[in-house]
Amino acid sequence: MDLLLNDRPAALEPGFEQRKRDHLRLALAPAHEARGLSGLDAVHLMHDALPELDLEDVRLDAQLLGQAAPTPFFVAGMTAGHADAPALNLRLARACARRGWALGVGSQRRQLAGPAELTGAVDQWRRLRDAAPGLVLIGNLGLSQIVATPLPLLRRLVQSLDAQALAVHLNPLQECLQPEGTPQFRGGLAALRDLCAWLGVPVVLKETGCGFSPRTLAKLQGLGLGAVDVSGLGGTHWGRVEGARAEEGSPLALAAATFANWGEPTVDAVRAACRLLPDTELWASGGVRSGLDAAKLIALGAKRVGYAKPALQAALWGDAALDDWMARQELELRIALFCSGARTPAEMRRLHTAEH
Ligand SMILES: Cc1cc2nc3c(=O)[nH]c(=O)nc-3n(C[C@H](O)[C@H](O)[C@H](O)COP(=O)(O)O)c2cc1C
Repeated sequence: MDLLLNDRPAALEPGFEQRKRDHLRLALAPAHEARGLSGLDAVHLMHDALPELDLEDVRLDAQLLGQAAPTPFFVAGMTAGHADAPALNLRLARACARRGWALGVGSQRRQLAGPAELTGAVDQWRRLRDAAPGLVLIGNLGLSQIVATPLPLLRRLVQSLDAQALAVHLNPLQECLQPEGTPQFRGGLAALRDLCAWLGVPVVLKETGCGFSPRTLAKLQGLGLGAVDVSGLGGTHWGRVEGARAEEGSPLALAAATFANWGEPTVDAVRAACRLLPDTELWASGGVRSGLDAAKLIALGAKRVGYAKPALQAALWGDAALDDWMARQELELRIALFCSGARTPAEMRRLHTAEH
């Protein structure tokens, strides 16, 4: 790895920054993924041995919040708020801009801490924008901060990044298992409704690896969301990550082990969202580990597909490794479309829906 995660003495770190650094390091451990639980292994895409196209006819064009986009891919929001985050974000931003992917940043919560934090972040985001002017950037904040923050400040947060959308993350399990957690979600629906009406850019509601159930999705009808990213069970699991941060044998560590497989599988969440929110743009993340996984989610109805941990891992290895990893995802999606007889992601969705 050529940058980041260099160990620094914990005593020199403010608690916030150390927590973000721990999250990043622990999220990379295979044991903290709910591998095999996404439901993707059970999805079969029908092979078409006579696709009636050339591979070069396949295009990855997609929709992003109603606008045309070169690919259906995005890098899902990952932790900002520690010293190495700007370098990591810059690397991801340049690569995403080059390849036509969208980029979600990690939680901007730190910017709410005070004017100095806001100004510092503005400088950081300006550098990002200068490096990748055409990039579609998505801001990020947790629901408990949305509930507690006045709308004008939320607008400033979005403007500081020059973001095309704001992702609001829901992570009730993590908030329960994190000693510093903020499991205050009361008033969340009303706050989301106001945010969608007044923010001025689309709101993307996302989970962080535990997915959306039919019960949750039914509550989202009529809210005015720009998109929903189901971010389901099957990849990074924050119950597991927080469990690894807790003291061995402590009630928090034991509770985290109890909830190690908690959540709605990504595939179930996508299917439920198609049924319950047919008019809301559907994004899928959570355990997506190949371009074939992406093709399966597109066939099931997702308009965009996102990766968090694998993108982080590739970015930590360097610019060339990140570019190779992104190229592989695109190639695998192209192959899956070609071998299914689909010219575009939209055609893939139509074919699959017609056959099921
Ligand atoms: C290191 C790391 C940090 C993350 N930080 C955030 C965050 O700040 N805000 C957020 O909405 N999601 C965050 N996520 C969750 C991801 O956006 C995504 O929903 C989840 O990791 C599932 O995708 P994956 O299985 O591809 O990792 C983070 C994920 C990782 C791996």
